[in-house]
Amino acid sequence: MKIGILVSGGGTNLQAIIDSMEAGRITNASIEVVISNNRGAYALERAKKHNIPAECLSPADFSDREAFHQALIRRLQEYQVDLVVLAGYLVNISPAMVAAFPNRIINIHPSLIPSFCGKGYYGLKVHEAALARGVKVTGATVHFVDEGTDSGPIIMQKAVEIPDGISAEDLQLKVMQEAEWILLPAAIQKIADGLL
Ligand code: GAR
Repeated sequence: MKIGILVSGGGTNLQAIIDSMEAGRITNASIEVVISNNRGAYALERAKKHNIPAECLSPADFSDREAFHQALIRRLQEYQVDLVVLAGYLVNISPAMVAAFPNRIINIHPSLIPSFCGKGYYGLKVHEAALARGVKVTGATVHFVDEGTDSGPIIMQKAVEIPDGISAEDLQLKVMQEAEWILLPAAIQKIADGLL
């Protein structure tokens, strides 16, 4: 299974996928390309260190959003990817992209969907919202991407307890360590095994 990974930031979820492949926990799959919307994303450096093609495709480089979305689809098709993984990708996916890769785009979200998801909930904001609401359990979700925001069918979820007094930054790391870095490689392996 050929995978294309879309990123925007630090790329720790990308790293978890790379590590799982190198440790033999993901089999029958290869990362063909990592694409970031943000030229400075450290995720691109992580890819290059492992000799994975790493590119930037920024909306700012295109005359309009439509041209950007078309270029992104074309690039993924050129690499002949079977699965698109959104690993901390903070750009909305176009309906054309969903149509080009039906049921073959997955996303990791740092909460137990349907809590703290949808428009405006990304990155640290998700954890700040969970703390503000005072929930005692949060977690992460891997789901298929449809035309909505965080609305596609859920593949896997893992719960994480919220200790009293934890900061949003520490909670973000706890959710990554206890849920995200485990779930995303596991979901990819399921798809590579033909179970989804
Ligand atoms: C992760 O926590 C991921 O779940 C989140 O962004 C972070 C990216 O970290 N994604 C979203 O909020 C999507 N709505 P990373 O670049 O270190 O993998």
